[in-house]
Amino acid sequence: MKRRQFLALTTLAATAAWPPAARSAAWQLRARRSQQNLVGAAHPQTGTWSYNGVVPGPVLRYRQGERLRVEVENSLDAETTIHWHGLRVPNAMDGVPHLTQAPIAARGGRFVYEFDLPDAGTYWYHPHLASAEQVGRGLYGALVVEEREPPVVDRDLVWVLSDWRLDRSARMVADFGNFMDASHAGRIGNTVTVNGSIRENFAVRSGERIRLRLVNAATARIFGLRFEGHEPAVVAHDGQPVAPRRAERIVLGPGMRADLILDCVAPPGSRHRVIDDFYRQRAYRLLDLAYSDEPAIRSTFGPVPALMPNPIAEPDLGRAERHRVRFEGGMMGRLPMGAMRHGMAWMVNGRPIAETDHRHEPLLSFARGSSQVIEFANDTAWHHPIHLHGHVFRVLSRDGKPEPERPWADTVLLDPDSRAEVAFVADNPGDWMLHCHVLGHQASGMMAVVRVA
Ligand code: C2O
Ligand code: CU
Repeated sequence: MKRRQFLALTTLAATAAWPPAARSAAWQLRARRSQQNLVGAAHPQTGTWSYNGVVPGPVLRYRQGERLRVEVENSLDAETTIHWHGLRVPNAMDGVPHLTQAPIAARGGRFVYEFDLPDAGTYWYHPHLASAEQVGRGLYGALVVEEREPPVVDRDLVWVLSDWRLDRSARMVADFGNFMDASHAGRIGNTVTVNGSIRENFAVRSGERIRLRLVNAATARIFGLRFEGHEPAVVAHDGQPVAPRRAERIVLGPGMRADLILDCVAPPGSRHRVIDDFYRQRAYRLLDLAYSDEPAIRSTFGPVPALMPNPIAEPDLGRAERHRVRFEGGMMGRLPMGAMRHGMAWMVNGRPIAETDHRHEPLLSFARGSSQVIEFANDTAWHHPIHLHGHVFRVLSRDGKPEPERPWADTVLLDPDSRAEVAFVADNPGDWMLHCHVLGHQASGMMAVVRVA
């Protein structure tokens, strides 16, 4: 290949990799098998499952108040659905097979998802059927709902973080139901990608202000990111605005998101590592912030803008009903042998529920419009990101210590042997999943249904 061509191609690839994607009211997503180079041109491609042929799928961009419409075509040999993680959708659009809809049939099944978008923020979409395998093979994408008046930034970008378990020839290791993984930390991969490939660099220019939307789409890996030489401010957590706060380390469990304002304060030509050291023994460099040689576009930065809160009903703590949901099991836990024999590793309030069990007797039932406080108690030796569908909750406390800002979230990361109290108004009628977002945990007992009626 002539050098000119090569340059042209790399520029193209570079713009495609950090998509400030186009906005559109209607999207078509086709779930299908595809091939992708995850680990670099020197290595073979990996067989993946994707939306529209690329992992991650397209960034679906909407404006707050718009109506989403997505036509899904399933070209896989397996049934699927799409769940809209973190969005307050009508129950029939929630994408939970057998609970809110029939699975979208293999080899040609179709389904149209359509709903309003009351909340701005960073969300994502993924299957909710055999999720450990389907998400693990690459079915996911980011969904961005822009504020009516978005804060002024130079670029608004998404990093979809995920990981893969690959063998030496970059083939996917298909051990998605591995009980060893399911009963420990989940199926953590050996290859971490940002927007679908291993990255050397993230090109920035001195003086620019970037809104960086992080999505943890990994099925088990927790990220703890440090931006060396920089102090990004977190402005939203799980899509919901928080008072801007400089963060030394941004911790994201599976399913969780953070919106950062990253001010590029370093000089032209410099490089700075972004480190993931959540698992301290296994810290690694995710990529480098690589500054171009161009002169800085500004030398001082204004204050970090705060985002407008979303219209979420405020729970009435004085009148709220209180519940306790206890998670047990896992290795080094107290799981009855009987449960293990059926491939179950975890229990919610004493019961393991398999992903394939569609009886879905509700664990808790709430009167529509009532305020609820739930204490999640993690009586295990493992981390669990606990996710509730259809609602957004305030995190009131952790281990009995009040959370000063009571941030809104849809997923709360419980450390081993810890507790968190959350509160919300049960204002969205239907049967909703409550589960661990380590997808191997979900599949082996760590899920339940709550009913709002
Ligand atoms: Cu992101 Cu029930 O899932
Ligand atoms: Cu878990």
